[in-house]
Amino acid sequence: MSEPLLTVDALRVDLPVDSGLGSVLRDVSFTLDAAESLGIVGESGSGKSMTVRAIDRLLPRGAEVSGSIRFDGLDVMALGKRDLAAYRMRVAMIFQDPRAHINPLRTIGQFLTEAVVTNKVMGKRAAEERSTSLLAEVGVDRPQSRMRQYPFELSGGLLQRVMIASALITEPDLLLADEPTTALDVTTQSEVMAILDEIRRERGMALIFITHDLDLAAAVCDRTAVMYAGSIVETNASAALHDHPMHPYTAALAEARPSMTSRARRLTVIPGVATSGLQAPSIGCAFAPRCTHAEPACTTSAIALRQVGTDRTSCLRAEEIFGVRHGN
Ligand SMILES: Nc1ncnc2c1ncn2[C@@H]1O[C@H](COP(=O)(O)OP(=O)(O)OP(=O)(O)O)[C@@H](O)[C@H]1O
Ligand SMILES: [Mg+2]
Repeated sequence: MSEPLLTVDALRVDLPVDSGLGSVLRDVSFTLDAAESLGIVGESGSGKSMTVRAIDRLLPRGAEVSGSIRFDGLDVMALGKRDLAAYRMRVAMIFQDPRAHINPLRTIGQFLTEAVVTNKVMGKRAAEERSTSLLAEVGVDRPQSRMRQYPFELSGGLLQRVMIASALITEPDLLLADEPTTALDVTTQSEVMAILDEIRRERGMALIFITHDLDLAAAVCDRTAVMYAGSIVETNASAALHDHPMHPYTAALAEARPSMTSRARRLTVIPGVATSGLQAPSIGCAFAPRCTHAEPACTTSAIALRQVGTDRTSCLRAEEIFGVRHGN
């Protein structure tokens, strides 16, 4: 078998906090093949954004990183400035709130073309032509006149399509999408999601898709990883993970049926308070205080992902609670 496109191995990120350094990610490991899609799901503070920020080398100042990230043979942590710029053309990122990531004083056309023209990836004319056709491809109407408009003239849904077009301009191999539809209304959410999915399939682009919504991840992604308190607690093929969770946190997320409004989708009905990596215990399961299945061993044992069937779970009691399925 060939090497995966992306290999994240034992990634740990410590950030400066009041009391010194605090871990926001601990022992995060996963792989992603070319053209594969991975959903990362978890409550607020679980470390989803930090994971993709580490992959794109966009961590906050003062962050200390250990472990490794390899992309197509490159040691991402070791990339110098010039190689990092080239790497970022192959690994593009889109964010939750398009308005926060676009200069309001620049036209859509300037926004789309400036970076590639400055970095001499293509000439101005070619960049404009490519941007216009990408806008059409992501479903923006009247693309030529849109190029001359300013961000305030576009709705949130249109602006997120512009962001997708801007991420595609360098034909990346991997797209990191950090809750790209959360800020949009429900109808626009599903339209933007459908476009993202279609474009990814057509281009054979790999995708890491971050969401709070387990159902959405399962619908869009080949595999899903569930994060809690700075660690991956379960990962499997999306359908298997969704239908047969092997970690009580995943099961709780699956049962926390969100209502159909976008605001409510961010809420969870899992009792107790979500924990970030910063509050996680150094030993034992971070979810134990909220887990209806917790036993004393859960707070005193070392916790690590282990293989159960096709599933990888960090729950000590997974087989007892969920049974063992063949071909899970
Ligand atoms: N610049 C920073 N300095 C210190 N801690 C930070 C910083 N940015 C984020 N954190 C902390 O790191 C942890 C993980 O944050 P992260 O943004 O990855 O969470 P998330 O899973 O993306 O949550 P959300 O769903 O709310 O976006 C949180 O506890 C957060 O408070
Ligand atoms: Mg986030």
